[in-house]
Amino acid sequence: MRRKFIVGNWKMNGNHASLVEAQDIAAAARARPDIDVAVCPPFTMIATMASAGGVTIGGQDCHAASSGAFTGSVSASLLADAGARLAIVGHSERRELSGESDALIAAKASAVLAGGLDVILCIGETLEIRRGGDATAFVLSQLAASLPEGLRPQPGRIAVAYEPVWAIGTGLTPELADIEAMHGAIRGALGPAGPEVRLLYGGSVNAANAAAILKAADVDGALVGGASLTAAAFVPIIAAA
Ligand code: PGA
Repeated sequence: MRRKFIVGNWKMNGNHASLVEAQDIAAAARARPDIDVAVCPPFTMIATMASAGGVTIGGQDCHAASSGAFTGSVSASLLADAGARLAIVGHSERRELSGESDALIAAKASAVLAGGLDVILCIGETLEIRRGGDATAFVLSQLAASLPEGLRPQPGRIAVAYEPVWAIGTGLTPELADIEAMHGAIRGALGPAGPEVRLLYGGSVNAANAAAILKAADVDGALVGGASLTAAAFVPIIAAA
């Protein structure tokens, strides 16, 4: 049985003044021992939020190397040392803004698993690709090219987040039937590991649409950006799971 998994991605937002939000989110997470809740704050907040407890803390990215001369980068072992238990890799903002390739993302995902953290691998199509009718083929090719090798023995440690690029931060979401079709295709493409991998939907999830999305077939959780920044917005999504 796959437990529901609700993850907040704070992106480049959140500082010590946000700890009050984090405390309220942690209280809501503690009240739901039947599901998993995580928050991925900026690197600068990981240690503080992890030591406050109550909610799993993750990184938003991870370098593919374990250590070395990589100015400005953070490795899986550094994330773990700060108290993180998981890391997101392959977010579309990193793919687009930092030019990250599928091969680099696969290497990052492997590094996350090797460092003892769980991984959330993001994939998703642009509006142009969706309009061209090629969304499923595109997403499955992205999945195949960015899946870490380590998935096969440890499928329970990876979640795949389907995040259509055009739905992120726009207030637009796909039809439920389109989410179900894509998640079903991703699950199928994962082969024998499919039943153990949690599939998250991400892109403009909010308190109003969360219940319906989280009930959709093959949706095991949500990756939430804007609506995870305050407890007022995020707690109802946790409650909807
Ligand atoms: P959003 O972001 O919920 O603000 O659309 C989701 C994400 O980028 O993970």
